[in-house]
Amino acid sequence: MRRAVCPGSFDPVTRGHLDIVRRAAAVFDEVVVAVGVNPSKSRLFGPEERVAMLEQGVAGLGEAGANVRVAGFTGLITAYCREIDAHAIVKGLRSGTDFDYEVQMAQMNAHLTGVETVFVIADPQLGFVSSSLVKEVAAFGGDVSGLVPEFVLGPLTDRLAEKRA
Ligand code: PNS
Repeated sequence: MRRAVCPGSFDPVTRGHLDIVRRAAAVFDEVVVAVGVNPSKSRLFGPEERVAMLEQGVAGLGEAGANVRVAGFTGLITAYCREIDAHAIVKGLRSGTDFDYEVQMAQMNAHLTGVETVFVIADPQLGFVSSSLVKEVAAFGGDVSGLVPEFVLGPLTDRLAEKRA
């Protein structure tokens, strides 16, 4: 059983994330989407909300997501991988900037427990999509439909409005 973990904060989940999860699920026997629920970090959406959004997103993958499950994790990702007996961490790479950031984390994680990190190159159509940019554009009224799953659009608009109020 080759189990991989796909970690992130997913605040909120984007179509880019779901594309990486779908493609990881085609390579590994099981993929666990691990939602970082570190309480010290301030996020737009709470841990349960982000987990629920991922579950909905994975359900939307249909058969391609049949071997994917979603879980929250706290602490080190390497410890979580050991806990659930995962052999690899899967990360999406959009650009050289991602690479510079991810390579250090991959090397640190390998140093800690020897876990491998496998990189999946972003679909060029989604290479500009990030949760932070989606939030920034949506906060100024820009159209982010097509960049996040449809079910994220309403909660995103509502939460940004609450923050402004
Ligand atoms: O979506 P993000 O914010 O890029 O996700 C980052 C995440 C959650 C994958 C990363 O911060 C992480 O692995 N955090 C867990 C704590 C940890 O293991 N830190 C050391 C990484 S070398």
